[in-house]
Amino acid sequence: MTAIATEPAPMPHLLGIDDLDTAQVVRILDTAEQLLPIATRERNTVPTLRGKVVCNLFLEDSTRTRISFDLAAKRLSAEVLNFSAKGSSVSKGESFKDTALTLDAMGVDCVVVRSGSSGAPLQLARYLDVPILNAGDGWHQHPTQALLDVFTMRRHLGDLAGRHVVIVGDLLHSRVARSEVQALTLLGAKVSVVAPPTLLPPQVEGWGVELVADLDEVLPDVDVVYLLRVQRERMHRAFFPSSREYSRLWGMDARRLALLGEQAIVMHPGPMNRGVEISGEVADSDRAVITEQVTNGIAVRMACLYLLLAARGGSDAEEAR
Ligand code: NCD
Repeated sequence: MTAIATEPAPMPHLLGIDDLDTAQVVRILDTAEQLLPIATRERNTVPTLRGKVVCNLFLEDSTRTRISFDLAAKRLSAEVLNFSAKGSSVSKGESFKDTALTLDAMGVDCVVVRSGSSGAPLQLARYLDVPILNAGDGWHQHPTQALLDVFTMRRHLGDLAGRHVVIVGDLLHSRVARSEVQALTLLGAKVSVVAPPTLLPPQVEGWGVELVADLDEVLPDVDVVYLLRVQRERMHRAFFPSSREYSRLWGMDARRLALLGEQAIVMHPGPMNRGVEISGEVADSDRAVITEQVTNGIAVRMACLYLLLAARGGSDAEEAR
């Protein structure tokens, strides 16, 4: 095969991991690897996106994702407009379409959108003629979280082909889990899931994952334990008897940590419920790479912005350095 044939296709938007193929995921991860020194401030900002306007449209609460996108764009020297539902015309009842048309009229070059409604980024991509980056939509997708997670795994474990990841907890309400399984599958990892039966999505059988009944049984075999937050804001009835019961059956604590192989790492997308899905001891242990995930998130989001905005002609990340 020629080099041209293996070149990943340019991405018009980043709406979900299901839009990507393996070559595109690897390209994002490799680009992030090159940008990491800038993300971690070993080097200063680069002028790659000077003159570009990135709009962060956050219609649902977020701390780390919003700050991470903000920093990522600034490290690439873009101008950043932060737009949240509170304090904007959205809270006055302006329709999503009118918000989109207003952004278009202002001449933004890219919109990063977080919304409680699944499909909002896709809708925006239909209204606007600029790259749209999904920063989490409803229960649907959270592609940059999955990408920063596989980036972090790859830094610890090398190639993920044949590696075993167990995802634990509230899969039903989790956009992270959907994106995570797709990204891991594209990279050839084996994925198991453990969850209270009430928090398993009905279609989980079709996800290509192994359903495991007992967390203790799978722990000695895995390279990564990925804990999901118990998403109380999305639970309008009781899905499990109590937080104590949840942590006894599905929480990661010091006893369970001792069951892991010595290479295994513990991950969580944040924000954590300490004492529920993860004990304080585990969260603070050297097996947990949760703060690294946050740092890596800046590099991965820089890579996504770079590939959507600067590398549309297929040039490589060397230009950004
Ligand atoms: C995740 C989200 O918002 O989906 N968090 C995040 O982006 N940092 C996961 C979560 O809220 O549990």
